[in-house]
Amino acid sequence: MSDVGKESVAELVVAWQAAHGRNHLPWQQTRDPYKVWLSEIMLQQTQVATVLDYYARFLARFPDVAALAAASQDEVMGLWSGLGYYTRARNLHRCAQQVVAEHGGAFPCTADMLATLPGIGRSTAGAIAAFCFSERVPILDANVRRVLTRLLGFEKDLASAANERLLWSAAESLLPQKNLRDAMPRYTQGLMDLGASICTPRAPRCSQCPLASRCVAYQAGDPERYPVKTRRLARRSESWQLLLLRGPEGRVWLQRRPASGIWAGMHCVPVFADDASLSSYVASLGDASRVSCNTLQPFLHVLTHRDLHLHPILVTGEIAERPTEEGEWFGPDQWAAIGLPAPIRKLLDSTQAQLW
Ligand code: ADE
Repeated sequence: MSDVGKESVAELVVAWQAAHGRNHLPWQQTRDPYKVWLSEIMLQQTQVATVLDYYARFLARFPDVAALAAASQDEVMGLWSGLGYYTRARNLHRCAQQVVAEHGGAFPCTADMLATLPGIGRSTAGAIAAFCFSERVPILDANVRRVLTRLLGFEKDLASAANERLLWSAAESLLPQKNLRDAMPRYTQGLMDLGASICTPRAPRCSQCPLASRCVAYQAGDPERYPVKTRRLARRSESWQLLLLRGPEGRVWLQRRPASGIWAGMHCVPVFADDASLSSYVASLGDASRVSCNTLQPFLHVLTHRDLHLHPILVTGEIAERPTEEGEWFGPDQWAAIGLPAPIRKLLDSTQAQLW
C-alpha cells in the first residue's frame, strides 16, 4: 500500500525541512527570543543574504534587549541604516524599551502577548513563539500565504479581512499535533523555506515539493493563480485641512483621534476633509469678525496606502474658551509628552513662533 495519505501535511513539512530546509542560519542556533525577534524584524522586508551582516553587527553592539533599550535612537537608526523601512528600526527600539519597562527585560512567551509589542504583528508573533517556545500557533507571511492558498486551493479574495481570517483559521488547523517541541520550530521554518525555494511566485518547483500529492493547485495544474487578491489596495489620495487654533500662551486645541483609522488614538488638531464642515466649524468658534484664518504652507504626508495632502490653517482671534466639547488646549511644553502623529508634531514645532 502506498504511504500517500498516511502522513499529515505537518509531518511532510517537518520531514522535508529536516532534509532540505535551511538549518544553519545564525538565528536558528538559538531559542533566545531577543535574537529570534531581531532576526524576524530584519527579515520582514529584507532578504536573508542582506540581513546576515546587519544581524551580526547588531548583536555585537547590542547583545541583549537591555543594551538595545539603553541605546540612543540615533545609534539604533545608524546601525539600521541601509536596511530600509525605517519604521522597523524605530519600532525595534520602542519594543526593546517596552520589554525592559513593562516585562522586566524578558520577552513575553506567548504569541498573543508578543503581538501587543510595537512592530510585532500576528505572523511575527507566531514565528517568535513557535521558534522559541514551540507554541502551537500559525504564521502567515507573504511566502506562507502563497504556500497555503495553493495547498488548499483557497480561492477567496484576500483583500477582504474576513477571508484573511478564514485563511488564518485554515493555517491553524494544519498545525502539527505531536512532538510539538521539535515540530513547531521545524514546521514554521519549513513553510518559510518552501515558500522561499519551492513554492515561488512564478514557476514553482512542484516536482520537488513534499506537498505536491496534497496540493489542490498542483492537481488542478495552475498554482500561479494563487493567492487570489483582486483589489490591490489602491493608493488613495486625500486632502485634509488642519485647523491650528491659537489659544492663550502658544497653546493649540488638540483632540484625540478615533480609536481606529489613521493616527488612531493619537492627539491631533481638528481635521476636515471637506469645506462645508470646515466652514461650519469655524463659524462656531466665535464672532466671525473677530476670528481670522490664514492658510499655511501645504505639505504631503505619505502613508502606506494613502497620500495625505495636508493644508494647515492658522486660526487666530477671539476663539471660544472651549471650541468643542471634546479636546484640550496643549502648550508647547506638553507636546513632547503626548502621542502626536509625526507630521503634526513637525507642523506644531515649525509653527510655534506664529502660535504666540
Ligand atoms: N524570513 C522570515 N523569517 C525567516 C527565517 N526564520 N528564516 C529565513 N527567512 C525568514
